[in-house]
Formats: sequence, C-alpha cells, structure tokens
Amino acid sequence: MDASNAAQPLAEAGQHYLLRPDVVFLNHGSFGARPRPVLDAAQHWQRELEAQPVEFLGRRLPDLLREARAQVARYVGAEPANLVFVPNATHGMNIIARSLRFQPGDEILSTDHEYGAVERTWRFMSGHTGAVLRTQPLPLPMTTPEALIDALWQGVTPRTRLIVISHITSPTALIFPIAAICRRAHAEGIMVAVDGAHAPGQLELNLEQIQPDFYVGNLHKWLSAPVGAGFLYALPEHQARLEPLVVSWGYEARKPGPSRYQDYFEWIGTDDPSPYLSAPAAIAFQAQHDWPAVRARCHALALHARDAIDHLTGLPPIAPDAWFAQMCACALPPCDSEALKARLYDDDHIEVPIIDWNDRQFVRVSIQAYNSPADVDRLVEALAHRLPA
Ligand SMILES: Cc1ncc(COP(=O)(O)O)c(C=O)c1O
Repeated sequence: MDASNAAQPLAEAGQHYLLRPDVVFLNHGSFGARPRPVLDAAQHWQRELEAQPVEFLGRRLPDLLREARAQVARYVGAEPANLVFVPNATHGMNIIARSLRFQPGDEILSTDHEYGAVERTWRFMSGHTGAVLRTQPLPLPMTTPEALIDALWQGVTPRTRLIVISHITSPTALIFPIAAICRRAHAEGIMVAVDGAHAPGQLELNLEQIQPDFYVGNLHKWLSAPVGAGFLYALPEHQARLEPLVVSWGYEARKPGPSRYQDYFEWIGTDDPSPYLSAPAAIAFQAQHDWPAVRARCHALALHARDAIDHLTGLPPIAPDAWFAQMCACALPPCDSEALKARLYDDDHIEVPIIDWNDRQFVRVSIQAYNSPADVDRLVEALAHRLPA
C-alpha cells in the first residue's frame, strides 16, 4: 500500500459518510454506514410524506414503490415481478420458512457457515413441522468450488427438499458458488433458498441467471441504502406459495395490483417507506463514484489486511483470494473473543468483530469506500499488542 496518503479513504466516495473520526470502523459487514446523499434522499421522502400523508401513503406510494422496485430489480438482475421489498434479510428468510410446507422427515440442508438468526429461523420451522434440519460441516480451508459442493452434497439424501445457504457467509466472509449449487440442486429436484444479506453491493448480481428458488438480500448493508431496506426474490412458480408474516390490506385485496405476491408483501401496515424509496439513490451514488473501481480497491485492501494478520499470527489463510470480496476472515490463535473485542473497542477504538466459529476464533475485517490503509495498520498494530504471545 502507498503509505503517502494512508490516512485518506480509498475513494472520493469515502468522504461522504458520517462515521465518527475517532473510531476505526472495520465492521461494515454487521451494520453498514450510509453516505450523505442517501440520507438526504431518505429525508426527502420523509418530508414528502409529511407534506400530505394521505396523498403520499394512500395514493402515490404504489407507483413510487413500483419505480423503486424496478430500479433495484435491474441492479440485482431480476425481473421486477419476481421481487418484493422486505425490511431486511431476516424478515425475507422468515417468510420463506413460514410459507413452505414440509412433511415430517423431509430434510432441509444447511451449512455450518450460516448466520445465527437464519439458523434459528429454520430450527424454529423444523420444530413446528417435523422437518429435519441438517447442518453440513464445510471445513476450512476452502480449496475449490467443486470441493465445497462435494462436501455440501455429503449432506444430501433422498429426503432433501431444500438447501439454505449464504451467498457470502457471515462468520467466515466466504463467497459461496451459489450458481453451481442451484444448478446441481435443481437437476436433483431440490429447491435452494439463498441468504444474500452481504451480496448486493459487494458482488455483481444476476438473479435471473443464477435462478435461485428464493433469494433474500439486504440493501442496507453493502449497497448502503437506509436501514430497513431488503428484498425477497422468488421464482414465479413459487410466488403463490409465499404467505405474508403480517396480514394486511394486500390479503384479499379490494383493488388487486398486478400480482398477489406484491399485494401480500408491500403493505404490512402503516410504516415508513423511505428506506425502499431511497434505494435508487444508493444505486445512483455507486454509479456516480465508479463503484467497480471502489470495490476493486476495497478488495485489494481486504486482502492486504488478511495477509498482514496471517503474517502476524503465523496461521494460514482460510481460503484462496477469490473467495473473498470486501470482507476477509482470518483465523486467530485461541483467545477470549469477547474480551479481545472489548479491548479493541474500549481501548483501541477499533470496531471489528471477533467471531467464535466451531470452537475457533476469527477476526473479520470489512473494507468500504471510507476505509484507508491506515485503518488496517491500526488494527494490525492493536492485534500485535493484544493477541496471546
Ligand atoms: C449472512 C447474513 N444473513 C442475514 C443477516 C441478517 O441481516 P438483517 O439483520 O438485516 O436481517 C446477516 C446480518 O449480518 C448476515 O450476515
């Protein structure tokens, strides 16, 4: 890394975020920050609502949502009719889990890299239906996509009905080969529900090419839309199976819209629609700041962080470079994760997750446009000081 401008953000876009300068923020992956133009857009929509609430929510909203949905659909490579807004990925995954009908003994296959709330959602579902939730271990280090798929398929049985899998994993920050997983699953009559919480904004998406049966994505993470913006994608043949978690006017709609799917999900009682309506501003912000270049620089800095931390610990990388986008997870020597995280934040003012996974500890470094090589240096210095010798 060029040390001469090490304190500067990686990109001009980085200047537009409101993050506190006294904190080294390396955890966009948990709760991403938003740039000012996106917050301005959200406030614009809130003011529009305030100017005439009944006109805005009662008359204008369906058209505004349709336009925002069309832009988000284009961004993720989906047909607009296959996509509905939901407040977050957890909500979307709950819709899928509560809607699908399984028989006792049917199997849902997941992995040991899934997000805790998503694991709980499917355990809840399995407890209520008698369907069996199997968690397939996918051991580290990762080598090739083919090896991962072979390992995953060790959990497939004739009773497997659904695979639930992340596009980018939370504890290990790995990009999973979901297109190939969908192809093989479909050839064997198995549905796939993808947890894409981290993908929009980090990866170029083309959902119609990938053809997941279901895909949930967050817009408020790496796309940096306002908090409360996610989406649920479903193939047309599954849409009629999906039921709303909250029943409202879209159920038995008096004036049905173009699809029951959209009627069911986009009005779940009075709420603030500004996060959904501001997603196009987040897309525009990325377009104005040459996001492919920003992403490439963030990826390079994430790999630099990974190399520096692995050098410090003497532990090998958990996967080759291509498995990571703007986040990297690095193994740590055995340590008390909560204590280390607290010292890093309370004493060193570094916000970074220390993760317990399969009885091991990892640090997960997220790099966004506002980060600089100096942020990574601060983390590496702090780890050098705090890790057990
Ligand atoms: C892989 C994964 N799935 C789902 C979620 C849940 O996102 P949300 O809380 O926005 O629903 C997260 C959050 O970090 C995640 O990392």
